[in-house]
Amino acid sequence: MINSLLGPQVLLLLLCCFVGKVVSRTLTYESLNITRYPLAKCNDGSDAGIYFANSNASKPTSFIIYLSSGGWCYDAVSCRARFLESHDLMSSTGWSSEREVGGIFDSDYETLNEDSVWVNVPYCSSDGWMGNLDNQEVGFEFRGHEIVKAAIETVQERWSVGEDDTVIFGGASAGARGAMVHLDMVAEFFNDSNVYGVLDSPLWIDLDPPNYSTVGLLEQTQKVYEVSGVGEVSGKDGVITDNCASSFDGEEEYKCLFGQYRAGFLEIPHILISAEFDSFQLGQDGLNLPYPSSENEFADEFGAQMHKVFEDLIANVGDKSVTFYSQPCYNHAISMGSGYFKSATSNGVTLDAAVKAFLGGEGKSRDLTDYCEEGFDACTTSGSFCPSLGA
Ligand SMILES: *[C@@H]1O[C@H](CO)[C@@H](O)[C@H](O)[C@H]1NC(C)=O
Ligand SMILES: *[C@@H]1O[C@H](CO)[C@@H](O)[C@H](O)[C@H]1NC(C)=O
Ligand SMILES: *[C@@H]1O[C@H](CO)[C@@H](O)[C@H](O)[C@H]1NC(C)=O
Ligand SMILES: *[C@@H]1O[C@H](CO)[C@@H](O)[C@H](O)[C@H]1NC(C)=O
Repeated sequence: MINSLLGPQVLLLLLCCFVGKVVSRTLTYESLNITRYPLAKCNDGSDAGIYFANSNASKPTSFIIYLSSGGWCYDAVSCRARFLESHDLMSSTGWSSEREVGGIFDSDYETLNEDSVWVNVPYCSSDGWMGNLDNQEVGFEFRGHEIVKAAIETVQERWSVGEDDTVIFGGASAGARGAMVHLDMVAEFFNDSNVYGVLDSPLWIDLDPPNYSTVGLLEQTQKVYEVSGVGEVSGKDGVITDNCASSFDGEEEYKCLFGQYRAGFLEIPHILISAEFDSFQLGQDGLNLPYPSSENEFADEFGAQMHKVFEDLIANVGDKSVTFYSQPCYNHAISMGSGYFKSATSNGVTLDAAVKAFLGGEGKSRDLTDYCEEGFDACTTSGSFCPSLGA
C-alpha cells in the first residue's frame, strides 16, 4: 500500500534520513534533591526534576541543558484554568520516568556527541522560569528561578563541569524566555567553561493586539513579573541584570523579561532564533489561522516589526558573538521536533545548520535572517508556511 502511494525515489529519500542517525533520544527522569533545594518546586508544591542521558565516559566534556516550553499563566483565573487543562505543566505528579526528545537532541554535532551529557528540564512553574514566590493569593508557587539554579548545580556537581568544557544552555518558547533571562548568570556559574546560549523563540514583539479584550504580551509580562515575584529576585541573582535594569528601572523593570527589550543586553555568545511570523505570538495576540484577511494586516505589521527588531539588534551587536536566525515562516519553537531539520530559510539554511554554524563559529557574529517581503499572505496562503516545505 505504502509502496504504491510513494514512488521509489520518495522511499529512498525517507531511508536516507533515518538510517545512521538517532531519531530521538531517550532521557530518564530524576527528581531534584529536595532536601538540598527545598524551593525547587512545581506550582502545586511537588518536586521539580530533570530528564537526562549521559554516556559512561569517565569525564564528559560537553553538556546541554535545555529548558522546556509550555506558555505561562499570569493571574488567579488563568493559573486555575491552566491547572485543570494542563496539569503536567504545573505538577510533576503525573510525569513519566522516561521522555523521548528530538530536534536539537537528535542532531550529530562535533561539540555534542555520544560522550556528552544531555539534560532537558521539564517545565512546571508557569512563570517563564523567572519567578521565586509562594503566591498564596493566586494559590500557587512560582519557582522557575530556583528550578534553574538547582538544575545547573546538580549538573555541575554530578559531572564536575570544569575548565574548557562546553556548556550549551538554552530552551524553546517559555524555556527560551527563561534561558534568555538566566544566560549571563549561568555563564558566571560555569565560569571555567565555554557557555553558549541557544534561544529558540524568546523574541517577543511589543505590538498592541488588534482585539483589545486580548491580554497583550507586554501586559502578560508585567503581570508575571508581579505575580511570580520576579522583582524580588532581581539584582540578587541576575534574572534582571544590572545593565538592563539601568535602562528600565523602577516601574519599567519588567521589560527586562521581554525579548525585544532584553535581547540586546545579553553578553554571552548565543543564537537568537525567531520566525518572522511567530505563530505563538500571533496566537496570543488573538489571531489563529485561518483568520480573515483584514486581520492579516496585523500579521504583516507583526512581521515588519520582527524584521525591524532584528535589524536593530544586528546593527548594535558590536563585538559580541551572536548568530541571528529567522525563517520567513509561520512557526514557533521548532528546536525539539522534526521541523529542526526540515524548515529553512529561502536559501535552505535549516535551524540545525544554523545552530551548527553558531557552535563552530569561533566567536563571530552572523546574520542568518530572512524575511518574506511580500507579507504574510504571499508567504503562507500557498499551503506551505515555509519555503523549504515546497508549494
Ligand atoms: C540531598 O541533599 C542532602 C543535603 O545536602 C544530602 O545530605 C543528601 O545526601 C542528598 N541526597 C542525594 C541522594 O544526593
Ligand atoms: C552506562 O552504564 C549503565 C550501567 O552499567 C548502563 O545501564 C547504561 O546503558 C550505560 N549507558 C551507555 C550510554 O552506555
Ligand atoms: C566561579 O563560579 C563559582 C561557582 O561555580 C563561584 O563560586 C565563583 O565565585 C565564580 N568566580 C567568579 C570569578 O565569578
Ligand atoms: C475579541 O476577543 C473576545 C475575547 O476573546 C471575543 O469574545 C471577541 O469575539 C473578539 N472580538 C473580535 C472582533 O474578534
